[in-house]
Amino acid sequence: MRAGMNETPVAREYRTGSDPRTLRDALGCFATGVTVVTCIDEDGSPVGLTANSFTSLSLDPPLLLVCVAKSAASAGPLSAAEHFAVNVLQTGQRPASITFSTRVEDRFGCTEWSEGEHGAPVLMDSLSVFECRRHAIHEGGDHFILVGEVVKATFEPGLDPLLYFRGSYRRLHFD
Ligand SMILES: Cc1cc2nc3c(=O)[nH]c(=O)nc-3n(C[C@H](O)[C@H](O)[C@H](O)COP(=O)(O)O)c2cc1C
Repeated sequence: MRAGMNETPVAREYRTGSDPRTLRDALGCFATGVTVVTCIDEDGSPVGLTANSFTSLSLDPPLLLVCVAKSAASAGPLSAAEHFAVNVLQTGQRPASITFSTRVEDRFGCTEWSEGEHGAPVLMDSLSVFECRRHAIHEGGDHFILVGEVVKATFEPGLDPLLYFRGSYRRLHFD
């Protein structure tokens, strides 16, 4: 909500021991894109989850990272897989973002995909796709930090990104 002429915006505050909801709200002020991180599990089945904790890490060597909740069903397969893919979503892929972040029986049955060069699932019509070899896994509290070395990157120059801000999906609105 915007402060009107006579209203002063009220900043909210988190401190150690405060309600974690307030911390989440503070973190939600950082606008991000949305990705679906995928791999193939030990049984050969595709696995993936929606993640906005994606960051580029290094150009030489080419590294990126994503933070995965240890409690996620995909956590085991993603930490074990030799290869994974980060699919950066475009505005038309909001349904995929919802599918890969909620309890849907067959996430890959609802979304068109194909195997990347090293097997990790590539979602059709993604804005960009980074196919990675697992480089390192670091400890991060209730998450782990999955670092990948980019072995292949593709992108669509003409599409707009799906964005996430304050708990809602957004799109770019000026150019
Ligand atoms: C926009 C958005 C971003 C998310 N980012 C992450 C993330 O970076 N890491 C994570 O572990 N979960 C993230 N989640 C939550 C997971 O997508 C969600 O918990 C999912 O159901 C986990 O699936 P799984 O338990 O089958 O692995 C995000 C959810 C949404 C909607």
